[in-house]
Amino acid sequence: MKKQWFIAIVVMFAVLGSLAFVQAQGGNSQESETPADQDYGPSGQPIAFPHNTHAGEYQIDCQYCHFSAERASSAGVPPVASCMGCHSAVAGPEGGEEIPKLRGYWERGEAIPWNRIYKVADHVQFPHMRHISAGVDCAACHGNVEEIGVIQRVEQPLTMGWCLNCHIDMGASRDCTVCHY
Ligand code: HEC
Ligand code: HEC
Ligand code: HEC
Ligand code: HEC
Ligand code: HEC
Repeated sequence: MKKQWFIAIVVMFAVLGSLAFVQAQGGNSQESETPADQDYGPSGQPIAFPHNTHAGEYQIDCQYCHFSAERASSAGVPPVASCMGCHSAVAGPEGGEEIPKLRGYWERGEAIPWNRIYKVADHVQFPHMRHISAGVDCAACHGNVEEIGVIQRVEQPLTMGWCLNCHIDMGASRDCTVCHY
């Protein structure tokens, strides 16, 4: 009996030790990329939010959730409260794990730590509102989000050449200082 306990404790420390190691490694690689990057399993997000269900099947307008796209540089990601407008009533499929996770964030008063997908280099500024007011569709840069389950990867390279090609095509500015600080 004693020996079994001893083994159990050794195993436990080994597991804890390797977890700490994995976390430390994660911490290092995070600094170079997106600061909030974390491993949440296959979806890559703390909650597997399906765009196809919301924007496709239920036809919720993009800007209902990404409310600042037409008036600010950043499109904005909705706060938990705007999810709960529906999900205090909509429970999702029976046995599903995602809505209980969502309600957990709400009950704890925590923001959902979404991992960022689209991100330009720090020395570049990208104003959403200028593109929306010029009539450029979300899909031109983000693909057919209505058909995508969990947004996982960049559809467009976000390189300077990509920006400039469209600016040339659409007669928008090529002045270095509009994009660079
Ligand atoms: C019900 C709310 C909701 C609707 C409607 C919605 N989104 Fe989202 N969107 C989110 C949430 C929450 C995230 C963060 C989670 C993620 O990235 O999967 C997100 C993430 C994104 C991202 C990635 C952001 C990043 O991290 O770079 C893009 C691009 C996006 N949405 C585009 C769209 C477009 C285009 C539409 C309309 C076709 C749309 N969304 C409709 C809630 C919504
Ligand atoms: C306008 C109403 C509405 C809003 C706002 C809304 N949802 Fe939903 N959501 C739904 C409906 C309807 C379903 C489909 C439920 C079903 O199939 O049983 C759904 C499904 C989901 C699912 C899939 C559940 C599963 O287990 O398959 C997730 C995850 C989800 N929503 C998360 C969110 C998050 C996060 C937000 C806020 C960013 C949000 N929803 C905002 C109506 C909404
Ligand atoms: C001309 C290309 C383009 C168009 C059009 C565009 N986006 Fe973006 N989007 C980007 C780029 C580039 C980024 C990364 C910006 C950054 O890092 O500052 C981004 C980032 C985002 C993000 C990440 C978080 C944030 O707050 O910015 C969301 C969400 C998003 N876009 C949603 C949308 C929606 C919804 C639309 C349509 C209403 C849209 N975008 C139209 C290029 C575009
Ligand atoms: C799909 C086409 C398209 C892509 C891709 C695109 N843009 Fe634009 N951009 C436009 C249009 C159209 C305008 C609006 C021009 C106007 O208002 O006269 C614009 C305007 C701008 C402006 C404001 C310019 C000014 O005169 O003040 C900036 C800054 C900008 N874009 C940055 C970017 C950056 C950075 C990227 C790449 C990450 C990018 N754009 C990608 C089409 C695009
Ligand atoms: C329409 C927007 C836009 C305009 C105009 C623009 N740039 Fe850029 N530039 C970008 C983006 C986006 C990146 C980031 C590319 C990446 O991360 O791969 C970039 C990157 C760069 C870099 C860094 C190179 C690198 O490999 O990251 C330099 C230097 C640069 N630009 C100089 C210029 C100069 C000089 C001009 C004027 C002749 C200019 N840019 C005009 C969007 C623009």
